[in-house]
Amino acid sequence: MPERSSATSRILLVSGSTRAGSTNSALVRTALACAPDGVATVRYGMTGLPYFNPDDDSEPLPPAVVSLRAAVAASSALLFCTPEYAGSMPGALKNLLEWTVGSTVMTDKPVAWVNAAADPRRGHGANDQLATVLGYVQARVVPEACISVPVHHELIGADGLVDDADARAALAGVLGHLVDAAR
Ligand SMILES: Cc1cc2nc3c(=O)[nH]c(=O)nc-3n(C[C@H](O)[C@H](O)[C@H](O)COP(=O)(O)O)c2cc1C
Repeated sequence: MPERSSATSRILLVSGSTRAGSTNSALVRTALACAPDGVATVRYGMTGLPYFNPDDDSEPLPPAVVSLRAAVAASSALLFCTPEYAGSMPGALKNLLEWTVGSTVMTDKPVAWVNAAADPRRGHGANDQLATVLGYVQARVVPEACISVPVHHELIGADGLVDDADARAALAGVLGHLVDAAR
């Protein structure tokens, strides 16, 4: 089930990693915890989604797909935090995006991605591929919100949050840019 904070503008947070100790998922949890006033952050967990199959992309849709599309439709903007695997975004994240192609839920939706790689020179293949796929579904990329927030494992506290003031401030800034773009 989605985890959420309370408020008005609603930003859907998606980690591209299914790894338990993921730094990207830690960033998503931290964004939940440090959203500015008036910004509701909702975490979308993609583990229940089936593999995309065009044969199943019609009514009745798989329940997890109905849930995904409803979560996207109800959001003011989306933020992706994702690792890069083999030069591209993880297959699980591409799968999620493929399930949005047959709908219009992403059309004109403000979107951004944050790269948590400890080395900020890495991960650009995933970013480039996100730009391609999100362009295909006609989402509206917010360039000023697409940044690198390097997260070293030792910065993740026992609560699973990123314990670093700079990272938290950067995330708050990203959420602010998305809210502005959604107005
Ligand atoms: C199977 C696999 C493939 C990877 N391929 C790349 C890659 O092509 N380019 C890259 O910059 N990093 C690559 N990485 C490193 C991860 O993207 C990087 O460690 C990331 O920060 C991990 O994020 P996480 O902590 O959210 O899992 C790969 C990691 C794994 C496990």
